[in-house]
Amino acid sequence: MTDDLRPVTAEDITVAARASFAGAPDGRLRFLLQHLVEHLHGYAREVRLTAAEWEAAIAFLTETGRACTDRRQEFILLSDALGLSMLVDVLQHPAPPGATESTVLGPFHVEGSPLRPMGSSTVDQDGSGEPAFVSGTVRGTGGQPVAGALLDVWQNAANQLYAVQDPGQPPGNLRGRFRTGADGAFAFWSVRPVDYRIPDDGPVGRMLAATGRHPWRPAHLHIIVSAPGYRTVTTHFFDRTSPHLAGDAVFGVKPSLVGDFVPHRPDEPGAPEGWDGTWYSFERDVVLAPAGG
Ligand code: BEZ
Ligand code: FE
Repeated sequence: MTDDLRPVTAEDITVAARASFAGAPDGRLRFLLQHLVEHLHGYAREVRLTAAEWEAAIAFLTETGRACTDRRQEFILLSDALGLSMLVDVLQHPAPPGATESTVLGPFHVEGSPLRPMGSSTVDQDGSGEPAFVSGTVRGTGGQPVAGALLDVWQNAANQLYAVQDPGQPPGNLRGRFRTGADGAFAFWSVRPVDYRIPDDGPVGRMLAATGRHPWRPAHLHIIVSAPGYRTVTTHFFDRTSPHLAGDAVFGVKPSLVGDFVPHRPDEPGAPEGWDGTWYSFERDVVLAPAGG
């Protein structure tokens, strides 16, 4: 029976697709999908999306999926390059006053970095870069030192690459986990991170090139700090001298996360043994918000 059918309008399709999720038993899933339908349809209407453009978009998403491996996550990269990762971060993790702000995780974090003694080095390969001594104290928002905090750090080498991207580096190079003692203090040797290009040899790189965008990120060190009773923070320490601070390809820079790699002469106290060039120190406390706050 087709007697009660009438021509379908664009509006009818949106209403029907939205209603198709009305019976979803999980209220949050229902809410997310109904809003997704409304916004996707609204987008298609607003830009007058053509069939050819939608086919090209599907081909692009298919390629993005094909570019994913156990060492590369092109969808995270796409989310990062579209600013969506940072938007979700800002919406979900507003830092309470005084707490260290969060930023993107990025695709190069690897679980299970080597546990290293406090004060030791993450450098497992000579030639990784110019030595940098990173130190500070993990504190609560009340100023109290946090004992037993776990720091998980990772960064790139002078060749711009993270160990996970570079078969030429030992897998644990420039990665490490450190646990604070009673004073909450942390310290480790690393190298000065350098500006680098996000992987731009795949679909996301083609999107950047097609739109005249550059792939550069400002030099930074990644750090995740967790401790019982506190909210985990995933963040970066950025180098103030980077020319790309104002144009990060993934929109991850927050002014409070920018700091100074202070240069030192080789004859200054604390210089690394056997190094006769400039070395650096970077000092920064990490302030954790209380859990559930
Ligand atoms: C990173 O900082 O490691 C990163 C973040 C987003 C995209 C690519 C790399
Ligand atoms: Fe990074």
